[in-house]
Amino acid sequence: MPKPRVFVTRKIPAIGLDRIVAECDAEVWADQLPPSYDVIRAKIKECVGLVSLLTDKIDGPLLDAAPNLKVVSNFAVGFNNIDVPACTARGIRVGNTPGALTDATADLAFALMISAARRVVEGALEARDGRWKTWEPLGYLGVDLVGKTLGIVGMGRIGHAMAKRCRGGWDMNVLYFDEHQNDKAEEELQAKRVDLDTLLAESDFVSIHASLTDSSRGLMGAKEFAKMKKTAVFVNSARGPLVDQKALVAALKAGTIFAAGLDVTEPEPPPPDDPILHLPNCVIAPHIASATYSTRDGMAEICADNLIAGVTGQPLRAPVN
Ligand code: DGY
Repeated sequence: MPKPRVFVTRKIPAIGLDRIVAECDAEVWADQLPPSYDVIRAKIKECVGLVSLLTDKIDGPLLDAAPNLKVVSNFAVGFNNIDVPACTARGIRVGNTPGALTDATADLAFALMISAARRVVEGALEARDGRWKTWEPLGYLGVDLVGKTLGIVGMGRIGHAMAKRCRGGWDMNVLYFDEHQNDKAEEELQAKRVDLDTLLAESDFVSIHASLTDSSRGLMGAKEFAKMKKTAVFVNSARGPLVDQKALVAALKAGTIFAAGLDVTEPEPPPPDDPILHLPNCVIAPHIASATYSTRDGMAEICADNLIAGVTGQPLRAPVN
């Protein structure tokens, strides 16, 4: 029996990749940078399985080039890079990697929050560049976290994990905005579900954990930033296009809000002259929320399970459709 032909758009951790290579006839894209759309389309012509990353756009015209494709296994929990209805319409299953990266992502969101609130990166850059002059009673002042109000936009697994850190460790009150009530967050964390306007007006920290869909795109814009406190810190570890980035830059420049911490931007990376990269009150990480050894291993295992199940006609471990 010939092994099922698959294309893997980037090297993933060996714990998953070794199984894929053992069980499939796999071509693995070895470059650091992603293959182009046209390259993916050409590579999957004969394939039954595809491992994609969040940087790979998978849409109907691309899928039409792969009449035998049975499964797209995305190496991410987010799957906004994939046109899922287009996959479903063609009988192609889609898998993602939920759960594996919950804690790592919440840790990074918290790291961004405290870094932005306490001006850690701004201060560190000044220290490194020799611009740190002396200990100043009025220098590098930031905002406290203990006992403040945290607003979670999107109370899923990661939002809950972020709220748990802030509630348990920093005694924060938790508000959340979500289309669904989250009983676990309400019982365990005394979280209160409110509308977005209330959350923005009452929160000292706003952390976004929503998935990117047509309706959540641009959820945070000029109007929303204007409703926040001047002392508030905004954190985005979900997806860049949830935010109108020009509006965020304007809000940070004008002091409409105090600071921001971003693990995601639009585009990624931003061009070197993008103003978002040059604001002292904006901490930017290069989309690394899931970048720990054990988290990426966990994602690779789920990703391999999804792919192998899909090419052999078994139910996926983590199905999207
Ligand atoms: C995801 O999984 O969606 C993250 O953005 C990257 O790990």
